[in-house]
Amino acid sequence: MSIRSTRKEEHLALAQKFYENEKSNSFDQMHLVRPALPETSVNLQAISTKMFGKTVSAPFFINAMTGGSKKSFAINQALGKIAQQTHIALALGSASILVKEADQLDSFIIARQENPNGVLLANVNAKTSVRDAEKIIAELQADALQVHLNVVQEIAMPEGDRDFHWLANLQELRQQITVPIIIKEVGCGLDQATIHRLKKEGITFFDIAGSGGTNFAQIENARNPQPLAYLENIGLPTVIAAVLAANEDVDLIVSGGIRNPLDVFKGLCLGGKYVGISNTFLQVLLQDNGFENLLQLIKEWQKQLAYLMAIYGQNNLTDLPKIKRYFDLPLKAQIDQLL
Ligand code: FNR
Repeated sequence: MSIRSTRKEEHLALAQKFYENEKSNSFDQMHLVRPALPETSVNLQAISTKMFGKTVSAPFFINAMTGGSKKSFAINQALGKIAQQTHIALALGSASILVKEADQLDSFIIARQENPNGVLLANVNAKTSVRDAEKIIAELQADALQVHLNVVQEIAMPEGDRDFHWLANLQELRQQITVPIIIKEVGCGLDQATIHRLKKEGITFFDIAGSGGTNFAQIENARNPQPLAYLENIGLPTVIAAVLAANEDVDLIVSGGIRNPLDVFKGLCLGGKYVGISNTFLQVLLQDNGFENLLQLIKEWQKQLAYLMAIYGQNNLTDLPKIKRYFDLPLKAQIDQLL
């Protein structure tokens, strides 16, 4: 196995090792006001939405994880089938590996083969050239391209990049690539200034991927003979990142630490058009009978999101940011310092 494929498999194993079910995070410090008289009924239609020109059954999706190894093939095959059967969108893991290892294409394409008509997002790193990105988008018939910004992860990786002059390439990608581009973090959070800067370049979709869930500094530290433990604590929590990003008037995706349908609902209330889930879904898939369990879990989340819409008196996803919310004081004090 190549060093890159080995790394992909190590990421899968370590994401499993460090996963803590329902670990507390910033969503626990955010609360919503509920009308005791909601005048609603549970309606699954109310959570259906459009994503990159296609209809999806729900505004939450399976966010970027894997590709480029043997285990990735099986995971992307299962995720492709599940996305197809539940009609939710699926983002694949970074396909930048294909620039050096074209023979790993199968482990990505399988998801498109299993889900020929669904919303599929390709994912690359910020140095991927226009030519390579175009090739990947065409091969996967991707509906949009996620580009990840992962400086903390790279620094925590002994073999990681040490040069982060990415802006010129992002400008080129934006000018040449015809599908929508989503700029995302990988669990350390996008700050408002970066969103503001990239908005000027014509980028409109941002996935804040905040801290509180998968911690890539922790994952890379476990692979690093000289771990930098303090890197594990420098992420921007998802709720803080989302509140700040909402000031930028962009198409926002909220992700990072989503554990249950209430977190999805809160992500939508924070202004997320869509909410992404990675490790919570992966860990269900990796258990015994994982395929069936994840399929059922996603159907259950669809139902429960419709329940929450009814509980909070809502018929329209676009109205959710109007729901009154309040924060525990420690979180509010942190947000206030950044506003
Ligand atoms: C990831 N993530 C990720 N992100 C990305 O942009 N490209 C990638 O290749 C990967 N690879 C990857 C592998 C594994 C095993 C996990 C668990 C995650 C990051 C992911 O998309 C997301 O931003 C973070 O995991 C935070 O979300 P969760 O896991 O807290 O829901």
